[in-house]
Amino acid sequence: MIKKGIILSGGMGTRMSPLTKAVNKQLLPIYDKPLIFYPLSILMLANIRDILIIVNKGQLGQYKKIIPNGKNLGIKINYIEQSSPRGLPDAFILGENFIKKDNVSLILGDNFFYGQNLTQKLVNCTKLKRGAKVLLHKVSKPELYGVAKVNNSNKIMKIIEKPKKYFSDLAITGLYFFDNKVVDYSKELKPSKRGELEITDLLNKYKKNKKLSADYIGRGGAWLDTGSIEDFYKTSSFVSAIENRQGFKIACLEEISFLKRWIGKKEIRDQIKFYGKCEYSKYLEKIIS
Ligand code: G1P
Repeated sequence: MIKKGIILSGGMGTRMSPLTKAVNKQLLPIYDKPLIFYPLSILMLANIRDILIIVNKGQLGQYKKIIPNGKNLGIKINYIEQSSPRGLPDAFILGENFIKKDNVSLILGDNFFYGQNLTQKLVNCTKLKRGAKVLLHKVSKPELYGVAKVNNSNKIMKIIEKPKKYFSDLAITGLYFFDNKVVDYSKELKPSKRGELEITDLLNKYKKNKKLSADYIGRGGAWLDTGSIEDFYKTSSFVSAIENRQGFKIACLEEISFLKRWIGKKEIRDQIKFYGKCEYSKYLEKIIS
């Protein structure tokens, strides 16, 4: 069972400057809540309650204002500051003391997932004992992502980071599940041409040892981008369309925790006090009334 998760929430957000000059990208709004709530909700839905959030040096204060610790959310939040972005596998080197002897999952702070049956899929992924598992999703612009080619029996044949030449349209989404070897494997990696440790190099190590498996987010699920300002608006309107139609909120952390009985009405009331008078608090009031 994977019970620990890392959210990599650093990055300079250069593509979204000047919005990201003072505020970390993951704290900017996707419709009615900060972006970080969405990947955090994904870990919670996977029953992962011990969470490390890696943030940029100097930005810890911003995060602690919105998520001081996980107490009222029924989870444990640890933070580490990263002095400079060194690539995704650096999360496992920085997080070594957090991971200890356990298996671990990683989600990128700017990844948005949504869909029926997603929770079941996530819980299944946490059953991983050995090896690594990725979630693939068909996209129209694979050249923007890590890409995998699979054969007829769903075996991953090839993985390339941002391929210039088309060979598959299955993107590797930013949610990964690893056994404990991930720490040592990450330490062995050498920076790529762009000067970063690459997640695809890490995955290729598992692949070489025949320990890499894949699952899918099918066409009924959504994996959306939040890389540019345009993406922020598109993802926001997706969330707005669903929330306003259904009257349910996506990624309401307190609701997830309350339904899982990790917290009770008292913690929700504390959170309402914490957020103050707002739409989000009104929603929380509905949950406990
Ligand atoms: C990173 C990974 C890439 C993955 C993507 C998912 O890309 O390197 O393999 O498909 O996240 O969001 P980046 O966001 O660094 O361009």
